[in-house]
Amino acid sequence: MRLQLTEDQKERVGDLLKAMTLKEKIGQMNQVSPSIVGGFDVPFEELIEMMTDGRISHEKFEEIMKTAKQDFHEDQIRDGKVGSLMVQDAKEVNRLQKIAVEESRLGIPLIFGLDVIHGFRTVYPIAIAEAGSFDPDLMEKTAAMAARESRSAGVAWHFAPMLDIARDARWGRVSEGPGLDPYLASVFARAKVRGLQNDRSSTEHYVAACLKHYIGYGACESGRDYNTVSMAMHLFYNTYLRPFAAAVEEGAATVMASFNDLNGVPCTVNPFTLRTILKDSLGFPGFVVSDANAVRECVIHGIAKDEIDAGIQAVNAGLDMDMGTGIYSGHLAQALADGKISEETIDEAVRRILSVKMWLGLFDHPYVSSECARRYDTLPEDHLALARRAAEESIVLLKNEGSLLPLARDQKISLVGTLAASREEIIGAWAMSWRKEDCVSIREGMEQEFPNLRYFPCGGPEGEICKADVDQAASYGDVLVAVLGETDAMSGEASSRGDITLPGKQRDLLQMLLKTGKPVVLILMNGRPLVLDWEDAHLPAIVEGWHLGVQMGPAIARVLSGAVMPQGKLSADFPAAVGQCPIYYNHPNTGRPGSRSKFTSRYLDIPFKPLYPFGFGLTYTSFAYSKLEISEGEKQLQIRAEVRNTGDRRGTETALLFMQDVTASLVRPVRELKGFRKITLDPGESRTISFRLPKKELGFYDNDGHLRLEDGAFRFFVGGSSEADLSEEAEITF
Ligand code: BGC
Repeated sequence: MRLQLTEDQKERVGDLLKAMTLKEKIGQMNQVSPSIVGGFDVPFEELIEMMTDGRISHEKFEEIMKTAKQDFHEDQIRDGKVGSLMVQDAKEVNRLQKIAVEESRLGIPLIFGLDVIHGFRTVYPIAIAEAGSFDPDLMEKTAAMAARESRSAGVAWHFAPMLDIARDARWGRVSEGPGLDPYLASVFARAKVRGLQNDRSSTEHYVAACLKHYIGYGACESGRDYNTVSMAMHLFYNTYLRPFAAAVEEGAATVMASFNDLNGVPCTVNPFTLRTILKDSLGFPGFVVSDANAVRECVIHGIAKDEIDAGIQAVNAGLDMDMGTGIYSGHLAQALADGKISEETIDEAVRRILSVKMWLGLFDHPYVSSECARRYDTLPEDHLALARRAAEESIVLLKNEGSLLPLARDQKISLVGTLAASREEIIGAWAMSWRKEDCVSIREGMEQEFPNLRYFPCGGPEGEICKADVDQAASYGDVLVAVLGETDAMSGEASSRGDITLPGKQRDLLQMLLKTGKPVVLILMNGRPLVLDWEDAHLPAIVEGWHLGVQMGPAIARVLSGAVMPQGKLSADFPAAVGQCPIYYNHPNTGRPGSRSKFTSRYLDIPFKPLYPFGFGLTYTSFAYSKLEISEGEKQLQIRAEVRNTGDRRGTETALLFMQDVTASLVRPVRELKGFRKITLDPGESRTISFRLPKKELGFYDNDGHLRLEDGAFRFFVGGSSEADLSEEAEITF
C-alpha cells in the first residue's frame, strides 16, 4: 500500500512546513540515540573493546550496560532539534513524546525507530532461515506480529526488512537477509512490507518499514563487513536493486542508505543511487535515513574534507535524516547560509519525514495507551504458535542416510552440545526485546518430545571438550544428537569470519562421538552457510536449524520425531570449501564452464560446485518431477510440470522454476529463479503444477538500466533445487 496521505493530511504537512523555523526543520532531520554518559569505571569505547577482545564476556557487557547512565536529550527535544530517537519502552517513549508534543513550539511528534529484524518480543527465525520456508504468507504474518508488538512499546519504525543479496557466507550479515536470490528476496521484501505496513485498522497495528541497506552492502569485497563494493551496472539493476524496487513498489515508507561505497561513491552521499534511481526512477515517496554514524564516516572514506562537507554532500545527494552524528543539526544552517545547499532541498527532506509521521498517525495518536502497553505482558498463544510454525518451516534437512530420521519417540537419546541447553543462543543476531522466559531451548523441546533423552554438555563453539561427558553420552544413548554451530555473536554486524567451518573444537567433538560407533545426528545452529564438507562425508544425518527464535526447541524436536515433516530449503548455496566464496548458483556463464577437464573454470584443489545448492532440502519422503511443458501466449508463458510423491509419507515440497536466457546481448546467469509453488502430496499422489510467467519477466536490464526483451531461445527447469535436471527449451518472441 503506497504511502498516501489524504488531502487534509497533505495540507497539515504543508502548513507545518510554513510555520517551521530553519532550526526546527533541521531538527526533524536529526536522529539521536540515548547517549551513554557514564555509570561505569572505564570510557564506553574501552568497554566495547574489552568485550571485543574477550576481557569481559558479552553477558558481563550487557550487565554493565544496564547500569549505564543515559542522556535522552530532553532539552534538544524541547527545543525542536530532534526528529527521531531509538528507544523501546512505552513509558520512556511516552515521557519523551510528551516533551516533543506538549513542550516544543510546534508539537511535532518524534518517531521512535529500532532494529526489529526478526521479531520484537516473539523472536522468529533469522531472515536467511525464514526465506527458506518459501512461504510469503508466513513472512507477512511474522512481520505483522512484530509490528503490533513493537508498537505496544512505542516503536513505530522498524529498521527492516534487510534486503541485501549476499553471495559470500563469510559476511556475518548474511543472517539478516533473505539469501542470495533476487526473485526470492523480492517475494520476501514485498511480504515483509505488507506485514509491517498494511494493517491500518488501528495505529497500534502498523509501523513504517525501512529497507536496508541501500545498496550493494552484501557485495562487500571478500565478505569483510563495511568493505568496498564494485559492481557492473547490469548486476546492480538485475540483482541488487530488485528486492528494493519490489519493496518500494509495495509501498515501503523509508529506506536506509548503506555504509559501503558503490563503485567509489559511498551510498550515504550517492546522488545516483538516492536521487536518480530511488527517488526519481522508482518514485520512492518516503524518506531516507543514513546508517549509524555514516555521514561522519564519509570523511574517513576520504570523500569529504570535513564534517560540514560530508553533511552538504549527503543532503544534496538526497539523504533526508542523519542517524547519530549530529552533523545535520550542527552544520546545515551554515551550509545554507553559505549557499552550499538550498532551502528547497531541506524542505523536501522535511516534507518526506513529516509525511511518514502523518501516515503513521503519530500526530493524532502520539502516545502508547496503557492498555496497548500492557497487551503483550504475557505472550499470546497465537504469537508463540506462529513463531513455532515459522521455525518448523525454516528447518532444512541436509542429509538423512538410511532414513536414520525421524527418531522413534521412545528411543534412548544422548543430547550433546552446550548450544542445546541454551535459551539465549537460539535467538540469533539482532534481537533486542526478547525475554529469556519466552524461550524454549532445544534440550527443553526435546525433553518434551522424547521421554528417554538425557543431556550431556560435552562442548560447544567455544571452550574445551569434556571427555567424561562424551563417555557418558556414548554409554547411554542408542543415538547421539549433537547440537553444534555458531553462537549468535558469530554472525550479524561486524561478525565476518574467514574460516566458516564449525568453530572451535566442534569437529573434534564430532570425531569423538563417531568413534563410539553410535549413529550421530548433527543439528546445526548457525547464522550463515557453513562449510560442512567433512561433516557431510562422515555423518549419517544433518539438520540445518539456523537460529530459529523463541520456539526453536519444540520445532527441532517435532521435526526430529517426524511429528512435523521438514520442508525448508536453502536460500543460499553452501560452499564445499571456504575458497569457493563467493558462490551462487545464478552465476553468469563462462566460455569454459567448470568440468573435470583442466582448462575450465575450476580449482585444482577443491570442487567448483557447492556442497548443497540453493533450493536444496530433503524431507522424510521424496518427490519426482516429469512432463515439463511450455506454452506461449501473447503476454505470458505457462509452464507446467508434474510432481509426484514417490515416498511413503505425506509431505510438502516447494517446486522451483528456473530459466536460462540461452543467447542474449549480455552474458546471462546459467539459471535464474522465476517462481515457486508449495504443494502437499500424499504417498503416490501426483499433481500438475502450473506457473504463469509474464513475458516481461524474461527480460533483463542492460548496463544503462534499460529493460531488454530479446527474442530467442530460453530454457526452463523445474525441480526441487537449483540443480534440477528436468528442462525444456522454447523460442520466445516479444
Ligand atoms: C546497522 C544498521 C542498524 C543501525 C541502527 C547499524 O550499525 O548497520 O543495520 O539499523 O546500526 O541500529
